[in-house]
Amino acid sequence: MGRSGRKAVQEGLKKLEDQHQPLFCIANGENAAGGIGITPDIADDLFLWGIDLITLGNHAFHKREIIPYLDAGNAIVRPSNMPPGTPGHGSMTLKKKGVELFVSLVCGRVFMEAFDDPFRETARLIEKVSTPHRFFEIHGEATSEKIAFAWWLDGKATAVVGTHTHVQTSDERILPNGTAAITDVGMCGPLDGVLGMQKSASLHRFLTSMPTRLEASEGKGVLHGVVVEAEMTSGKAVAVNKFSFTP
Ligand SMILES: [Fe+2]
Repeated sequence: MGRSGRKAVQEGLKKLEDQHQPLFCIANGENAAGGIGITPDIADDLFLWGIDLITLGNHAFHKREIIPYLDAGNAIVRPSNMPPGTPGHGSMTLKKKGVELFVSLVCGRVFMEAFDDPFRETARLIEKVSTPHRFFEIHGEATSEKIAFAWWLDGKATAVVGTHTHVQTSDERILPNGTAAITDVGMCGPLDGVLGMQKSASLHRFLTSMPTRLEASEGKGVLHGVVVEAEMTSGKAVAVNKFSFTP
């Protein structure tokens, strides 16, 4: 989320890597540029700092210069439940040290812009996936939709992780059939704002109902996320722990 979030990732990722030695590190980057959208230079920075794959969301195309980057062989995905012909990819398989990780991103439909059915799109995708290691992100507003999506994938996914609200939920758990789930991982960005945006502008919008230009808040950024541990052969999750710290 903006400059503050990028700085937190740059400074905090090393600590997480030392602590957990993750095989794969995935970050949602849809608000990395000034609080909305992402540019190729910023995506390059995130990769340089240790992110293996960037996911986007409803603001995927806000900075138009990212569009050609999505089809240029970079590990970045936009929501898969968009119309056929939309630039970029909605899912991808990462490979590292002999392990394949399938990653898919969908947007929810409740209190969101119009997207295709995330369930039907995911069912279509999952048919072709051979690796047992599967990460699904649902980028949405409604907790009900995200929780339902996780239940629906229980036993078919290593992890189902929610994003978009910027507020970390405390419901991380492993579902009965081995899928790690959390309704929302939160954000990497400034806490002294409203979802990472400057609180004065946000308050003005609420108090006056006038259109107000929102900009990313500054100040020290927090790092939110989850660490998922999975069994190597089955791909089932054995541990899920959320983190929240200021580097
Ligand atoms: Fe979003």
